[in-house]
Amino acid sequence: MQRHSLILAPAFLGALCLTGRPSPGLKDYYKDYFPVGVAVSVRNITGPDTTLILQQFNSLTPENAMKMGPIHPEEGRYNWKDADAIVDFATAHGLRIRGHNLCWHEQTPSWLFKDAQGNDVSKEVLLQRLKDHITTVVNRYKGRIYAWDVVNEAVADNAGPDSTRILRNSPWYRICGDEFIAKAFEYAHAADPQAQLFYNDYNTERPEKRQRIYRLLKQLVDAGVPITGVGIQGHWSIFEPSPDDLRATIDLFSGLGLKVQITELDISVYPWEKERRVLRPGESDAYTPRLQQQQADQYKKVFSVFREYKGRITGLTFWNISDKHTWLDDYPVRGRKNYPLLFDTAGQPKKAYWEVVNF
Ligand code: XIL
Repeated sequence: MQRHSLILAPAFLGALCLTGRPSPGLKDYYKDYFPVGVAVSVRNITGPDTTLILQQFNSLTPENAMKMGPIHPEEGRYNWKDADAIVDFATAHGLRIRGHNLCWHEQTPSWLFKDAQGNDVSKEVLLQRLKDHITTVVNRYKGRIYAWDVVNEAVADNAGPDSTRILRNSPWYRICGDEFIAKAFEYAHAADPQAQLFYNDYNTERPEKRQRIYRLLKQLVDAGVPITGVGIQGHWSIFEPSPDDLRATIDLFSGLGLKVQITELDISVYPWEKERRVLRPGESDAYTPRLQQQQADQYKKVFSVFREYKGRITGLTFWNISDKHTWLDDYPVRGRKNYPLLFDTAGQPKKAYWEVVNF
């Protein structure tokens, strides 16, 4: 007689608690609210992390694999390997996929803004390149990627000398002016009319930047640009945002009729810093009981706001799986360990996890 129990996949065994029933994960606690996702690399979906992923999450975002630099390294040449592997894994396991991202000023390939002589290309050429890129990438995953971050982080952090200017002074803006934003959405919509299309940004709860993002979104909505929603990245810390600032942002954006998703959640145990630097001698990066408690409190607060907005928040994604590896280990401070997620370095649920699921 065949012993079926011996051939159960490790991921399934990992999801069994002592009673023999699968133990619930974040996705189960929040099933009446929104899908709960996580940003992944290929390494995550081919190694031991798969157990935690499948137990806890029902949506994936490729952390880097679909960005323009990695996926389109030379004009006309695409590198599909990693992106395909993540999409195949998600499809095989019935997970949703958010595509990230189609137009950003970082992680761009070196050829993008330049001609053969090394000069900036014209606006017409750059828009044509953007169109080719978006059409090819969106089309490849049509029907499998349900939502795209179409434009990422285009709004300026600080008000410039010209208070009417909303956008950051990136090569996109320098070469195309405002127009690239609407165009990016139009190209994506033409390639996959069913896909939900998002504008995605950080520091969305800070009043000044919130207002600039709102002005951009309103212009897009008023002009009939095919935008579905706005991604609040959620790169937060134990110090911010306050529940009221978070509510103000969700109210303002959703008041435009846009869906809201939390797209890159992590809660750093350090204050926000913009400039990159190295760890200073003597500066501690220990995860003290006090920090653990402050973090659990902050997670509890923001999730309680998320639940208030049931129906308006349609998705939530964590930016990395566990404290074993987070992009914040090297950003903005090189060599400083951070502990921003719900699972510890051994993949075990932290105090913050229990605050998030006990409601
Ligand atoms: C980060 C990745 O996590 C890192 O691995 C990479 O080196 C840099 O980019 N906002 C975004 C994400 O929209 O794409 C960024 O991801 C984090 C900030």
